[in-house]
Amino acid sequence: MSESQSLTLTDSAAGKTAEFPLLRGTLGAPCVDITRLPKETGYFTYDPGFVATASCRSAITYIDGDQGVLLYRGYPIEQLAKQSSFLEVAYLLMQGELPSASEFKSFEHEVTHHTMMHEALKNFLGGFRHDAHPMAMLCGMIGSLAAFYHDSLDMEDPAQRRLAAIRLIAKVPTIAAACYRYSIGWPNRYPRNNLEYVNRFLHMMFEVPSGPLELPPVAAKALDLLFILHADHEQNASTSTVRLVGSTGANPYACVAAGIAALWGPAHGGANEAVLKMLEEIGRPEDVAKAVEKAKDKNSGFRLMGFGHRVYKNYDPRAAIIREMTHKVLADLGVNDPLLEVAMKLEEAALKDEYFVARKLYPNVDFYSGLIYKALNIPTEMFTVMFAIARTAGWVSHWLEQQNDPEAKIGRPRQIYTGAGVRDYVPLSSR
Ligand code: CMC
Repeated sequence: MSESQSLTLTDSAAGKTAEFPLLRGTLGAPCVDITRLPKETGYFTYDPGFVATASCRSAITYIDGDQGVLLYRGYPIEQLAKQSSFLEVAYLLMQGELPSASEFKSFEHEVTHHTMMHEALKNFLGGFRHDAHPMAMLCGMIGSLAAFYHDSLDMEDPAQRRLAAIRLIAKVPTIAAACYRYSIGWPNRYPRNNLEYVNRFLHMMFEVPSGPLELPPVAAKALDLLFILHADHEQNASTSTVRLVGSTGANPYACVAAGIAALWGPAHGGANEAVLKMLEEIGRPEDVAKAVEKAKDKNSGFRLMGFGHRVYKNYDPRAAIIREMTHKVLADLGVNDPLLEVAMKLEEAALKDEYFVARKLYPNVDFYSGLIYKALNIPTEMFTVMFAIARTAGWVSHWLEQQNDPEAKIGRPRQIYTGAGVRDYVPLSSR
């Protein structure tokens, strides 16, 4: 990494200049290091939504939003989607390299043997209303894990940090499935060690005590693919939340619970649920044009869910992969979902429309994922939970990286204060 170049800022009011180093990563635009800006100039920077700010150095994921490129540890998402598995991707994100056969075997063994949830957690479920949103339950239950695993809360110990990360990857699917089963009144199902990660989750979701579960192979294949595509996405809102909470020294369970809370918003992970609701509301291909017009009207308060992205100003590469899988899943399962036609019509109409073209608004990862989940009988309220299961691999990888970062500091942004100036307190009797 070369840090020899710099950027000179001129303060014309004060007639002063100051130099700031340019930092370069392996790929991507250089960043101006402004950490000394307040000291040297007395100024702060203003950047709502952090659109121009790198908050850390990270070696995990790279995105080129203009070219539609996504790399995990240098590997293109298209190659991983075709050839890898979610658990191997989780290892890659956490460890930095693809595992050898024996490394993968031992990682899989570790994850598999941490999938059980503590029996006392079932009491938490009973405390929720049966119609509670599963993201609310998941967030609360994951946050409570710190109360169960005192043996992995010493953040100074790398072995304990790793154990906490493994526990999270292993237990989030178990807890997610338990939330779902509680909401429909089914008895809890224990994780089966003889199944691999995604199949084990599907069994925990859908197996009933009265009979075996027969799943078409495409179900696990499609879910594994969706998990790979959702596993990480550099400093997105929920990952940045995990890092911000992590910067305080909070335990990883609290950090991931905070990430789950951030993911729930409709502008982030909640979009997959919102897309399906939107497609259902549009209802018929004939009504697509009306929806596109409404999305362009700023007074309507309506946006096309599953369209647009903070970083991608090109087709989201994950959306292209999911689009193909959606057709395959529906064909293999013999599902004739009229919403697919609505989705394709909507995509076609938006991609031709000047409003969307000019703003570079393309379908994102969530535009088609809901149709696959629906075909797999996963209820709409669980869509964001699916995202959370996959993203846990990314969250824990970022949290682990942050714990080893010598430059990491507590996250503490500044503000432009716009409130009242200094004024004197007036006693109640005089107001
Ligand atoms: N429909 C209609 N107009 C839109 C949309 C949309 N989906 N997205 C952005 N715009 C317009 C927006 O009104 C603005 O127009 P103008 O320049 O005239 O004011 C312009 O495009 C730029 O929008 P922005 O809100 O400044 O862009 P952003 O980078 O802050 O927001 C976003 C990105 C993803 C929040 C936004 O595109 C959006 O709300 N999309 C719908 C929700 C969605 O699908 N979210 C999932 C994101 S991918 C999964 C994930 O990362 O979790």
